[in-house]
Amino acid sequence: MIDYNQTTNAYINMVNQKLDEYVSLQNQNYDYVIEAMRYSLMNAGKRIRPILVLEFCRAFGGNTKNALPFACAVEMIHTYSLIHDDLPCMDDDDLRRGKPSCHKQFDEATALLAGDALLNKAFEVLSNLSIIECNPVIAMQAIRVLSNYSGVNGMIGGQAIDLAQEGKKIKADESVLNQMHKLKTSALIQASCELGAISAKAEEEDVKKAREFGLSLGLAFQIVDDILDVEGNEELLGKPIGSDAQKDKVTFVSLYGIEKAKEMASYYTQKALEIADTINSDYLKYMTQSLLNRKK
Ligand code: IPE
Ligand code: IPE
Ligand code: MG
Ligand code: MG
Ligand code: MG
Repeated sequence: MIDYNQTTNAYINMVNQKLDEYVSLQNQNYDYVIEAMRYSLMNAGKRIRPILVLEFCRAFGGNTKNALPFACAVEMIHTYSLIHDDLPCMDDDDLRRGKPSCHKQFDEATALLAGDALLNKAFEVLSNLSIIECNPVIAMQAIRVLSNYSGVNGMIGGQAIDLAQEGKKIKADESVLNQMHKLKTSALIQASCELGAISAKAEEEDVKKAREFGLSLGLAFQIVDDILDVEGNEELLGKPIGSDAQKDKVTFVSLYGIEKAKEMASYYTQKALEIADTINSDYLKYMTQSLLNRKK
């Protein structure tokens, strides 16, 4: 029997400590950008992506310490995607992780640079692994996986669909909505699960399981995100409520209604749980279930 909260806190502490090391002030004229990077990175994120990296590494027999750079790289990409997602040219949201969004706290140009810098830092951290840890093959695999899932065929592609349907440049039917969610949210979650497997030098069959688990968990996660945008509590959630409706976004809730959206979130959670059953990890099952019932 595992203590879910204790394990979660231990993972979060490991990640926060390492992120703090990776992104530190340098006493340079450009320190204000590093301050903005730290402002968005070192705060109350749930850290679910780095946790997935660490837990998949552990479940497939690896040492979580070796997976830490992978975990931090994914969180950097995720944080950059949030900074840019909040910009006025995208979702135009002023609250993130319970604080003013990066462009509100600083300014738009600084937020843009901080996002770009986090993106680059993620790949710097991974490529350094090839030199510092003398592990070029694993480093290259990780770079390949993360760049694919975060690029135009992954997270960025999903964000592009999100904006195009908001601007009515494309009509969002069921298949477009599915593709959008797979790309904008599942992709980085899949990357996290796969990177954990890669860091443990898992067999291809296990890497495939990680990928499939991430796809279902990611879909459930985004459906719940869409539901919380309607039914959530701003203080708990740390971001604005009603933001999607205000921008006339097509979401699982706007297309299917709240009850059907809840059913779909349960369906994908169940699918993820079935895959988790074939993996040596009670933690993953707890996590999957608790993300369905989350309030933040
Ligand atoms: C928010 O992600 C963006 C989505 C993909 C829905 P999280 O809900 O994981 O945000 P943080 O990292 O906890 O702030
Ligand atoms: C964004 O989806 C997913 C990203 C790639 C950042 P949302 O726009 O719904 O995320 P929130 O609700 O602002 O966190
Ligand atoms: Mg968005
Ligand atoms: Mg948004
Ligand atoms: Mg949302």
